[in-house]
Amino acid sequence: MQKFVITGGAPLSGHVRIAGAKNAVLKMMAAAVLTDEPCSLRNVPKISDVAILREVMNDIGFDVRRSNGDGLELQAREATWPFVPLEAALKMRASFILLGPMLARFGRVILPNPGGDRIGRRPVDLHVMAMEAMGATIAYRNGYYFASAPPDGLKGAHIRFPTVTVMGTENAMLAATLARGTTVLDNAALEPEIDDLIAMLCAMGAEIERSGERRIEVQGVARLGGAEHRVIGDRLEAETFAIAAAITGGDVTLDGIDPVHLAAFLEVCDRMGVQYEADASASSLAIRGTAHTELRAVDVRTDPYPGFATDYQAPLSVLLTQAVGASTIHETIFEDRLDHTRELVKMGADIELLDERRARITGPTPLHGAEVGIADLRAGATLILAALTATGTSVISGIEHVDRGYEQIEAKLVALGAQINRIEA
Ligand code: UD1
Repeated sequence: MQKFVITGGAPLSGHVRIAGAKNAVLKMMAAAVLTDEPCSLRNVPKISDVAILREVMNDIGFDVRRSNGDGLELQAREATWPFVPLEAALKMRASFILLGPMLARFGRVILPNPGGDRIGRRPVDLHVMAMEAMGATIAYRNGYYFASAPPDGLKGAHIRFPTVTVMGTENAMLAATLARGTTVLDNAALEPEIDDLIAMLCAMGAEIERSGERRIEVQGVARLGGAEHRVIGDRLEAETFAIAAAITGGDVTLDGIDPVHLAAFLEVCDRMGVQYEADASASSLAIRGTAHTELRAVDVRTDPYPGFATDYQAPLSVLLTQAVGASTIHETIFEDRLDHTRELVKMGADIELLDERRARITGPTPLHGAEVGIADLRAGATLILAALTATGTSVISGIEHVDRGYEQIEAKLVALGAQINRIEA
């Protein structure tokens, strides 16, 4: 098992290159299943979620390989073994994104009930509902979904999601590209990663448009071709580095990110008094550290895009420990996404859980080093941020969760002046 050893206190400064978006690239890998022609992705982050999905796709019989630098080449000629093993799905819930493309192209797939982050119940009922509306038959036995399409393929449907779901929207959209007729998705998610996926699918020959508020329309086509696509920058990684700069009183420029995608986070920065300069034409965002005594407390609630992302709230909570006054965080998307607060309290934070979805954070409180651990991707990044601002040394376990979504996080932080080491323990 590996751990991070971090000695806090150094203000971070310099430039950091933000990697391609995890939540976009995994769906684009699944999109490559929709054609037998080669697809080529650029700006692919070197994270373990990509490696796991690549292995799953290789086992199914697809050719998925890393190419020079940040490239990934994919070709899905035949599905010799249309099966996703439980082991992979437990490591990464996003493997469920293969459901739609596998059904649309090969007519069958067997997938386990996904695990991934242990946050909330995270059901997949809406994915199943969407596929069934398109004519699929899905049986659940012994922890596996056995899914098959009718002999003449999936058919277009009008699907209204009762809850906004990112992957549910994507799964339905991917399946609809090759279905007969038109599919209308209502109450669809608006995340920029979905628009990036739409751009790739359109380059493959799909007919998709956002035709109204929270509506996506897909006109099914008989076949799709290969495409080359460059993945957008990861706004969730960008937010983590923005907070690393703000919390250490540093001066960091994030490159390779569209600041427009971070609008909800920047609005919170405005309210807190965090100084920044966004330059959309240069795809950069510069964060200038502010004295903690000038940070204002805020109330924040998470919401689907364009609201404040659930993935933003755990990292933000570290900054709130240093703001003057009482802040509240209201997590509306997932249950159990406030686990990191327990670990922050061990480091000196003043945090009270008001109920299972709301926390009150009172600041400023100096943080100190501690031995802490996590079982979730963003919570892991959160503890790293806390350790960067704490006095003394912290030891963080569970860092394999961080590696799922952050490319070489310690190398990037060291380049900005942080003291962080990965050790075998
Ligand atoms: C995606 C992101 C994740 C982010 C989340 C919310 C990926 C790989 N992951 O996860 O980082 O935190 O969006 O922005 O893109 N729900 C159901 N039934 C379903 C599906 C979802 O009830 O079948 C509920 C969930 O429990 C949750 C809400 O819908 O309360 C939103 O979840 P969803 O948007 O589906 O999250 P993911 O797509 O899994």
